Amino acid sequence: MPFDIARTRAAYPALTEGFVHFDGAGGTQTAAGVIDAVTDAMRSAVGNRSAAFVPGRRSLELVAKARSAVADLLGADPAGVVLGPSATALTYTLARTLGASWRPGDEVVVSRLDHDANVRPWVQAAEAAGATVRWAEVDRQTGELPADQYADLVGERTRLVAVTAGSNAIGTVPDVPAIAKTAHAVGALVCVDGVHSVPHGPTDLASLGADVLVTSAYKWSGPHLAALVADPARWTALRPAKLVPSSDAVPDRFEYGTPSFPLLAGVAAAVDHLAGLDPEAVGDRPTRLRAGLAAAQAHEEALLDRLLAGLAARPAITVYGAPARRCPTVSFRVAGMSPTATQEALGAAGFCLSAGDYYAYEYFQMMGLRDTGGAVRASIYHYNTADEVDRLLAELDALADGAGRMTP
Ligand SMILES: Cc1ncc(COP(=O)(O)O)c(C=O)c1O
Repeated sequence: MPFDIARTRAAYPALTEGFVHFDGAGGTQTAAGVIDAVTDAMRSAVGNRSAAFVPGRRSLELVAKARSAVADLLGADPAGVVLGPSATALTYTLARTLGASWRPGDEVVVSRLDHDANVRPWVQAAEAAGATVRWAEVDRQTGELPADQYADLVGERTRLVAVTAGSNAIGTVPDVPAIAKTAHAVGALVCVDGVHSVPHGPTDLASLGADVLVTSAYKWSGPHLAALVADPARWTALRPAKLVPSSDAVPDRFEYGTPSFPLLAGVAAAVDHLAGLDPEAVGDRPTRLRAGLAAAQAHEEALLDRLLAGLAARPAITVYGAPARRCPTVSFRVAGMSPTATQEALGAAGFCLSAGDYYAYEYFQMMGLRDTGGAVRASIYHYNTADEVDRLLAELDALADGAGRMTP
């Protein structure tokens, strides 16, 4: 059955405002079920966690439901789901914790494809421990992160390999299973940034070969919360810095302070929303999630092909990278216009796109584009339509004509 785009869009109240959102990579709009769940939790009596009274039991339940939903989304164990305010904050916690056991001569491998949230925490933890940082490079033309380079990058002293499952800048989907295999051969830990990839298709921790994976719910129709996921045994072996009286249980000991219980209700509702993207799907939530996300992925890929073909047909537009497997995310520039000027002109016409480096700092630095403003990013999500792609291309034509007249 074709993806029911009208039904899907109707699930996002914010879309009635009429903006064209090609900025899902920066944060998607919120699904109605999420808004309802957060509101319901805020309207209910909810106390701090306690088994002694009903409002306290509600918050315990909200935490448990959020863990179980994220586990279903990623093929994980709920007892291995650490919840937190953002992927960046969670990665810093893990980097400080792991880094405490690193010694001079140990090595960590990071990539120039990654968002800085999966680079700098590891680089800084390595610096603090006197460990060595090794860099996986991106092919300038294709935008690929070749997996075979990891055979040279990884060695006996490698403690950790951090890599993205999907670039938030140019969409590249690296061969994470192959990279993980190389890393595991020397006993290194594989930390995967799933923030950009998880919204765009089914994810399974084990098939990826990820020991740890991070995801942010605001990139998949949910609230601004994130999760760091691993086998609970992994967490049991680690001792993060923590307050003396706070829980020492796993995974709670990695979570700082009192969580936002209503937003946790929103996390579970966002997963339920994704599980409902294919209305024909039946079965348990993991099964419906796979079906829903696969249906959304097929829809997004058709839009991506349309966008890429349209951009390629326009000589005034330069697209960065042409990876074989990619999330529906494209960075480009319009000749004669700075990325910010393009973004502002599109913004004035109701199109929402990011401009700059979107924290893919190393990639844009390596490409020599950072100092001149980075690029413009069109990021497709499952509520986008073919008509929106065509309107964006038409708007770019108008801009390119204008820019062409200004720059002889
Ligand atoms: C690929 C990727 N990783 C990490 C992050 C950081 O996520 P958060 O905002 O939850 O810290 C982002 C945010 O844009 C991202 O796109």
